[in-house]
Amino acid sequence: MWLPLSLVFFLLPILQALAQDGSISGATSSSAAAGYSCDASKCKLPNCNCASTSPPGGLNASEVPMFVVFTADDAVQSYTIDAVNQFLGHRQNPNGCAPKMTYFTSLNFTNYTLVTDWFVAGNEIADHTMTHVGTPPKGEIDGNIIALNALAGIPLKSIIGFRAPFLNFSVDTLKLLVAAGFTYDSSAPAATPVTDPDTDAFWPYTLDFGLANDCLALDNACKGQPVLPGFWEIPMYAFFDERGAVGPHLMDPWLDAANGATTVNDSATLEYMKATFMAHYNGNRQPIGLYTHPIHLSTTYPGVNPSNSTINMINQFLDWAQVQPNVWIVSNEQLLAWVQNPVPVSQLDSVAALKCSTPQIDASMKICNGIPQNENGLLNLCSFSDFPFYTCYGCPESEPTVDNPNPAQQVPDGGQARSRVPTNCSTAFWDPIAAKCLCTSNDCAFTDNSRAIGPNGANLTGGGTGGAPGASASPTTYVPFNGKAVALPTGVWAATFVGVLGALVGLVGLL
Ligand SMILES: *[C@@H]1O[C@H](CO)[C@@H](O)[C@H](O)[C@H]1NC(C)=O
Ligand SMILES: *[C@@H]1O[C@H](CO)[C@@H](O)[C@H](O)[C@H]1NC(C)=O
Ligand SMILES: *[C@@H]1O[C@H](CO)[C@@H](O)[C@H](O)[C@H]1NC(C)=O
Ligand SMILES: *[C@@H]1O[C@H](CO)[C@@H](O)[C@H](O)[C@H]1NC(C)=O
Ligand SMILES: *[C@@H]1O[C@H](CO)[C@@H](O)[C@H](O)[C@H]1NC(C)=O
Ligand SMILES: *[C@@H]1O[C@H](CO)[C@@H](O)[C@H](O)[C@H]1NC(C)=O
Ligand SMILES: *[C@@H]1O[C@H](CO)[C@@H](O)[C@H](O)[C@H]1NC(C)=O
Ligand SMILES: *[C@@H]1O[C@H](CO)[C@@H](O)[C@H](O)[C@H]1NC(C)=O
Ligand SMILES: [Zn+2]
Repeated sequence: MWLPLSLVFFLLPILQALAQDGSISGATSSSAAAGYSCDASKCKLPNCNCASTSPPGGLNASEVPMFVVFTADDAVQSYTIDAVNQFLGHRQNPNGCAPKMTYFTSLNFTNYTLVTDWFVAGNEIADHTMTHVGTPPKGEIDGNIIALNALAGIPLKSIIGFRAPFLNFSVDTLKLLVAAGFTYDSSAPAATPVTDPDTDAFWPYTLDFGLANDCLALDNACKGQPVLPGFWEIPMYAFFDERGAVGPHLMDPWLDAANGATTVNDSATLEYMKATFMAHYNGNRQPIGLYTHPIHLSTTYPGVNPSNSTINMINQFLDWAQVQPNVWIVSNEQLLAWVQNPVPVSQLDSVAALKCSTPQIDASMKICNGIPQNENGLLNLCSFSDFPFYTCYGCPESEPTVDNPNPAQQVPDGGQARSRVPTNCSTAFWDPIAAKCLCTSNDCAFTDNSRAIGPNGANLTGGGTGGAPGASASPTTYVPFNGKAVALPTGVWAATFVGVLGALVGLVGLL
């Protein structure tokens, strides 16, 4: 196929990033390695939950919904969104709403406007580092939040989850997540079958009493560590082929050969996926997950030719699962909302997180707000040579990097800067060109949070036009909007920054 040169540049690096990400070959924990104990009388929902194979809230499994978590990892592009839609686009949950999913987004090769669209459509946008590195440094985690807020308009408070690239994380990673205000991590496998008495297929739990998954792989974890009160682990539940415990399949199981064979056999994959689902469904209904790298299943990405049989098999699995009573396809955020306030299936109508979400916006308003049919002619194309992207919120002067995740905006001659989503307007209601919020009623009122993701843990807020100091600027250097660095003694720095921040909000804004 002939490709224009610019597109070739855009595509090549993604192919290099296709290496299998997140595969496992056996158990990653055991009860001996976990050495876990939790005092259930001191650990109560909604902000504490012991690692347990039993459903939360003391519910009987027969009254518990069976959740199928759907996640996608890495760059968000038209190809990957198409790939997800071929599995979810035509489906409904038992309440008639479209299923939502979690997209663990890394920024390299991401087309920012599609992140906005996917979020406004109700999906969860989560963090997968800026440039896709294992055991990521702070700037890789925090910079991703800053750039997703600035250039994709995702509110700071909506980015609550993290998955480590290659599922490679450490106790320090979890501590960085807590410091940055995350609610959960989902990087730890549950890779012992639910039917095994020593299973680690726990319902999502908080780390008030330490981690209980991945204990054979991590240093300084488990046996009560790390203590991170109120911070959740949502385990990644493996499927198991006919070999049982020694045949686990975690991410993209359809790319693996089953039962020790040497080639992929979609019928065999379908059989074991159904069997593992049923073991969960007929047991304690721990969730099951389809953890995808959607690029592998893209039918529109040049050079990737997934087999129709594999795509059909995955749809067959979901068709079959959805015929079982009380099966819901959900994002991690939805799963967690239910776990924190578990209600029996008869009361699911009352769960706000499971409801349909369509922002009620005047259809005649043509604004750049993550609703594709409104956005004709309004998107900025940021034509960086290695990965061009589109955004509603103005192109940065340079590509976001870990050292500078929110570069100043590049305003064309005679043009006007775009205004980033502020702290008091939600994405779908914000007009970044007129700098105006279309929400005028309490129903759509919105308040974002600030997060301690700036240098030295300074709290940042949304809004502004770009050019805020980088998340990993050197600790004693404050880079103000005029670009001149000012060195300050350690300690004075944070207080000064917060003071300056207060003075600037409302004037030019920050971030
Ligand atoms: C759970 O529900 C099932 C089916 O209704 C019932 O047979 C079983 O006794 C219940 N178990 C408990 C512990 O209540
Ligand atoms: C990027 O987004 C624009 C606007 O939605 C779309 O036209 C384009 O096809 C997308 N490209 C990729 C590679 O995602
Ligand atoms: C991510 O993109 C940056 C900027 O183009 C590039 O320098 C870096 O090598 C990329 N990283 C990966 C892992 O592809
Ligand atoms: C995890 O990531 C770190 C940092 O990138 C790397 O040094 C280490 O080898 C990785 N570990 C595994 C098991 O891949
Ligand atoms: C593929 O798997 C199915 C179901 O397990 C089996 O009946 C069939 O023989 C397998 N095909 C090959 C070529 O191994
Ligand atoms: C896959 O299915 C599509 C649509 O059903 C069809 O156009 C295409 O020819 C099929 N490809 C193969 C290799 O069977
Ligand atoms: C949001 O805050 C700005 C600045 O404080 C204010 O002018 C504006 O009216 C607020 N908008 C809404 C919808 O509350
Ligand atoms: C950031 O904000 C939180 C909550 O508003 C506050 O507890 C914390 O002290 C602030 N951190 C800094 C460095 O200002
Ligand atoms: Zn990844």
